[in-house]
Formats: sequence, C-alpha cells, structure tokens
Amino acid sequence: MKNAELKSRKDAATPRGVGVMCDFYAARAENAELWDVEGRRFIDFAAGIAVCNTGHRHPKILAAIRDQLDHFTHTAYQIVPYASYVELAEKINARAPGDYPKKTAFFTTGAEAVENAIKIARAATGRPGVIAFTGGFHGRTMMGMALTGKVAPYKIGFGPFPSDVFHAPFPNPLHGVTTADSLKAIEFLFKADIDPKRVAAIIFEPVQGEGGFYPAPAEFVRALRKLCNEHGILLIADEVQTGFARTGKLFAMNHYDVVPDLMTMAKSLAGGMPLSGVVGRADLMDAAAPGGLGGTYAGNPLAVAAAHAVLDIIDEEKLCERATLLGDRVKAKLIALQSDVPQIADVRGPGGMVAVEFCKAGGTEPDADFTKRVQTRALERGLLLLVCGVYSNVVRFLFPLTIQDAVFDEAMTILEEVIKDSVAVAA
Ligand SMILES: Cc1ncc(COP(=O)(O)O)c(C=O)c1O
Repeated sequence: MKNAELKSRKDAATPRGVGVMCDFYAARAENAELWDVEGRRFIDFAAGIAVCNTGHRHPKILAAIRDQLDHFTHTAYQIVPYASYVELAEKINARAPGDYPKKTAFFTTGAEAVENAIKIARAATGRPGVIAFTGGFHGRTMMGMALTGKVAPYKIGFGPFPSDVFHAPFPNPLHGVTTADSLKAIEFLFKADIDPKRVAAIIFEPVQGEGGFYPAPAEFVRALRKLCNEHGILLIADEVQTGFARTGKLFAMNHYDVVPDLMTMAKSLAGGMPLSGVVGRADLMDAAAPGGLGGTYAGNPLAVAAAHAVLDIIDEEKLCERATLLGDRVKAKLIALQSDVPQIADVRGPGGMVAVEFCKAGGTEPDADFTKRVQTRALERGLLLLVCGVYSNVVRFLFPLTIQDAVFDEAMTILEEVIKDSVAVAA
C-alpha cells in the first residue's frame, strides 16, 4: 500500500476536521523511530503527542499487555472490578504531590479527565464557576473547549459552550504579560464577572502544552494557591501533557512548593494505551455520588497493565534524570545557535519539556512562517517535530525519554541544519 493511495482514500473516507499533519502512513515503530508503509524511517520527536515518554513498544509494556490479554480484556470496572485498577490508584496516590489522603479515578482520554475534575470540583464545592487561562488547552469535549484559551482551530463553529467559565491571561514574560498582570486580571474577574464565592475551581497547566510550552512561574502558582485558599476555590493542575517524567520530575507540580487539590493526568501514563485519571484530596474525590464518575471503558485493564509497566520503567531507567539530561542538550544546542539565528527568541522549559520560540529577527513578533519552514524541512530530513503556541511559532520537543543516544545525536544534527537552512531562506 502506497502513501498517496492511502491519502486519497483517507480524504474520501474521513472528515477534514480530523486534521492530519503527515502525508505518510505508519507501518511500525520502535522506541524513538517509526517507519512508514513505503519503508521510510523517521525519528519521532512527537511521540504520539507526548504519549510515548517510554518509547514505542517498550518490551516491558508489551509484556504487561500480553499478560493481561491472556487473562481478560474488559469487564467494565464499574461492573466487575479488578485488582490492577486499585493497585494503580494506590501507586498514583502515593506518588502524586500532596501530603494528604488521596484517591484516584481512571478514565480514558485527557479531555475526560478534565471533564471529571470539573465535575468533582463542582460537586465538592456546590459552586458552578471555573477560571482557566488564555493559551490553555484542555481538550475537545464541550467543557474542554470552554476551558481552552485558543480559538483556532479548537473552538471554531462549536459553540455555545458551557457557561460560568472565565479566562484570565497566563503569565508570558516574552509577550509582556507578567505574573502581576495575570493576578490583577483574576481579581478583576471577581469584580466584573463572577463572585469568587461562586467559583468552584481554577484550572491551569504547570507548563502550557498546546499553548506554547510556557512554564507557570513559581510565584504565580503560589499566588493561585493563596487566592484559592482565601476564597474556598479548588486548584486543579492539568498535568495531561506535563506528566510522567517529561519535565524531569514524575509530575510537573513536583517542581513547585505548593500542591493542587486535584490533578489530571493522561498521555504518557500508559505509554500508548488510552488511559487518564484524576487524583486528588480524598474528601473532594468522594463528593460525587456512586455512579457519577466512570465510563464503560474507564480504566481499561490493558491500559492499566501498561501504566504499571510505565511507572516501573520510569524508575528503573531513571527517566526523570534522562529527561533533564536530554532537555539540557536540546537547550544548549539551541542557545549555541542563537547568535547565528536571530529568529530564536526564546529557549525554555523544565527537564525534557523543551521548546524554541521563533520570532521575526531580533524581536518578539511571532514568526509562524519560519517555524513552519523548520518543521517542514525537518520532516523532509526524517525528523518529526511538533509546532505549538497560539501563534504557531513554537517548536516543542517531545522525544521519547528512552531514545538511544545515537538517534538523539542524529536528530540534533538535523535540527541544527534545518534551522540554519531556514535562516538562509529567510535572509
Ligand atoms: C493539558 C492538556 N489537557 C487536556 C488535553 C486533552 O487530552 P486528550 O486529547 O487525550 O483528550 C490535552 C491534550 O493535548 C492537554 O495537553
């Protein structure tokens, strides 16, 4: 089967709303490499959008799934429960930030985890309001879209969205938004839009993912915690993209000296199997009545088996340390390039959650064309890179943390060359 033939069949059989970045079709993948149906090899710095921190087809994950296949594949946890779900909840409770009793519920997608975190916050507080941030991304369900602070392409044509959702600007020093500006905007929301006594939760990403890999400043997170404490609001950290060793810690919230009340997780939790979860204070997690949380596939046994293997691999292969080591190498490479590439406006991100932001030479005006050129040229050279940011001018690096050194070095060489080539074209 050829890529071109598959593309025309895709165009005829599937809607354009399911936008597809690549024009080649996957045949197989191994750790940080994948091959298309015509046998072409790619280095995968997308990792299924931050899902394969443990690489494609990690032998331990495959073994765990195979073992589970030999026992049962689905009972619906809410009908016939299984020990592995409970054991995974115990492990997450023990490892999530917060020195208080915790409970975890599992779901299937990141958006579902977000939906359920909001449901739990509303049930626990009896309040309707939610505050989210510009540039934030929380999924494609109705509440996910309402919370998302990026219009195109996520919200176009899909409204109206659930009410009582408000946005404040996320701190973004490069583009002139300070922590003080953000906090002032929240205080203003309390004056202009919603009484803080009606706000159930503030939801934020410790590092904005789709929005451009902007880390939340420590003083901002501390101030959010204080604000929540003052007004009886719950703080929800959406760790769907930041979780499972990507930032150099198991969770990005481990970098902060404050803890959230609820935390969402998904993506690399189960190394390629669909699994998400909400962990939080036990008293809050118990607010929803029996039957109010869950779903037919929520906590699927194959995905849960994979998640147990993921946690072991993160420990055994010291993936938090490796995230930082590799992230530092990407950053050093980009910073070294900065003198020759005036479009490199910023290089940032904790651990391996690294991104480079491209702006018009020497300034802060986003340069989406330059960014696209880097991405396209990298793909031509066999390196899969993802773009993000409200202005689509950020390249994010989501290499599997298990990537072999030789493959990583090869990717760094391609990256350097395509960035330099793109400067030559821009000149
Ligand atoms: C922070 C964050 N929340 C929620 C989601 C939605 O996850 P999913 O696409 O699995 O529904 C994403 C997906 O990118 C995300 O990055």
